Amino acid sequence: MIRPFTLEDLDAILKIEQLSFPKSPYDRMTFVHLQVLYPQSFLVYTEKRADGEEEVLGYIIFSPEGHIISLAVLPEHRRKGIGRALLHQAMETPQLRLLHAEVRRSNLGAQAFYLRMGFRIMGMAPNYYGNEDALIIQWKPSFVTPSSERHSGHH
Ligand SMILES: CC(C)(COP(=O)(O)OP(=O)(O)OC[C@H]1O[C@@H](n2cnc3c(N)ncnc32)[C@H](O)[C@@H]1OP(=O)(O)O)[C@@H](O)C(=O)NCCC(=O)NCCS
Repeated sequence: MIRPFTLEDLDAILKIEQLSFPKSPYDRMTFVHLQVLYPQSFLVYTEKRADGEEEVLGYIIFSPEGHIISLAVLPEHRRKGIGRALLHQAMETPQLRLLHAEVRRSNLGAQAFYLRMGFRIMGMAPNYYGNEDALIIQWKPSFVTPSSERHSGHH
């Protein structure tokens, strides 16, 4: 299920963050601020475990203007459609004119993911991450998405 983030999810989110962005993880206060700023578009993907407990497997944060601030999935749950399901939430926001994000030049997995989701590379921001460039990527509803992936169901 996909639902808004609550402060009870903080520990789970911090774990996903540290595993996903070891070079520059956001800290606890950053997530608290992001929740205050974007209560409707800081979303978590959860699944019920066998013992009935809910587990947070991934999250997305995007601004109403369409900036994807962060998106990450627990490493052992990648390639199961969770990232796609989270990104679809942003893509399906009414009145959204475009989505954009920055991706590390070395992050080939995320680049493959975004291209698969129909994003295009628009440019490059030199040294965006201090010592590494960012690719600027963008998606518009009018872009043709490969294999009609936009409307595949949630995982
Ligand atoms: C990028 C990320 C969010 C993708 O999440 P995910 O749940 O694994 O993605 P999905 O399973 O929905 O992938 C959808 C499609 O994208 C493509 N894709 C995803 N990850 C890929 C990879 N590492 N290499 C190549 N293609 C990839 C595939 O075509 C995939 O479909 P398939 O598995 O049927 O072939 C995840 O890899 C992650 O958390 N990475 C670390 C954090 C990060 O880099 N975030 C993005 C920068 S903000």
